[in-house]
Amino acid sequence: MMVFDSLMRNAAMQKLAQGALMRMDAETAHRATINALRFGLVPGGEQLPSNLATTFCGLDLPSPIGMAAGFDKNGEAFSALARMGFGFVEVGTVTPRPQSGNPTPRVFRIPEVMGVVNRLGFNNEGHQAAAERLKRRAPGQVVGVNIGANKDSDDFVADYVAGVVTFSPLADYLTANISSPNTPGLRNLQAEDALKRLLGALVETRSAQPRQTPILLKIAPDLDEGEMDSIARTVLDSGIDGLIVSNTTISRDAVAGLTNSEQAGGLSGKPLFALSTRRLAQMRQRLGPDFPLVGVGGIHSAQSAIAKLEAGANIVQLYSALVYGGMEMINTINAGLSQAVSQRGLTSVAGLTGSAVADWAEGRGEIA
Ligand SMILES: Cc1cc2nc3c(=O)[nH]c(=O)nc-3n(C[C@H](O)[C@H](O)[C@H](O)COP(=O)(O)O)c2cc1C
Repeated sequence: MMVFDSLMRNAAMQKLAQGALMRMDAETAHRATINALRFGLVPGGEQLPSNLATTFCGLDLPSPIGMAAGFDKNGEAFSALARMGFGFVEVGTVTPRPQSGNPTPRVFRIPEVMGVVNRLGFNNEGHQAAAERLKRRAPGQVVGVNIGANKDSDDFVADYVAGVVTFSPLADYLTANISSPNTPGLRNLQAEDALKRLLGALVETRSAQPRQTPILLKIAPDLDEGEMDSIARTVLDSGIDGLIVSNTTISRDAVAGLTNSEQAGGLSGKPLFALSTRRLAQMRQRLGPDFPLVGVGGIHSAQSAIAKLEAGANIVQLYSALVYGGMEMINTINAGLSQAVSQRGLTSVAGLTGSAVADWAEGRGEIA
């Protein structure tokens, strides 16, 4: 009874806190959440069920659900997030030099559909600040670092190379983010020749490091068939280890006429789910069944996480849904996913991957 009482109190407190956060502007609410995590004011998660454990690029993850890049940009909260039940955390995007990003306001909610538009523009404290925090991390937490380029850099490739040098000894994996819509020119790195040059430089730089940290590439969902073909070819030839699909979209088709839909920036959250999941499945078809793939975009429930895995993801990430559902949503998703694995008679969550690729690739997929 006492345990139940304290759970109820916890749930009531969380509801109260979530209500207060929703009354703040989106960026202030984010800062308040990071501070709560840093100072240990957020409850720890439950013990993760063993059927959620999986491996990805040689890393052992306690759950396939990770925190997407952009939440913990400077590496302040990854320990608390791991304790809350995230199987892994992607810090960043970090750029070599600190930069303040675009003028505020620059994060907007689309409450009708649990969407978010952001045009932050890689506001971050730079490589050294994040590196210092990562040096102090406890063993057992899986932390990736998402690397990018300074807005005023005259050599984007050199900025990514610097990220590989700084973070290969400190991160469990690295993500080259070439898909933010908020740094002018960045997405041009997705074009075939530019991408070949970038990935060639990253793999060559890594080979000179003492530790061969896996390198992933994070792409946009705003790609046509030919662009996806060319990215798949280049990625398979490059020697990098995996792909993350996808970043935010510049399309507003899914939110036309809704609150804040006209704001410039990248759209994320529930209205990104269909597009990003379709791109994920289309990339799975191009890359074959064994290439490591991370699915991200619009996950808001256990069912939508399962759909992402069925569309071809080995592991998944989320961010925007937490803006609406609160941080403890991770517990609900972990629990629902574990239950689905048992109900289907599978021994591990890995058994869900890729069971409905064609449906999602052709736009016929549905969340159960
Ligand atoms: C406020 C905000 C900031 C973000 N910042 C980054 C970033 O710095 N680097 C990055 O690769 N993705 C960033 N993203 C994109 C997310 O990592 C993710 O790819 C996208 O939001 C789709 O997932 P979601 O619908 O679960 O949020 C950001 C997203 C949001 C909402």
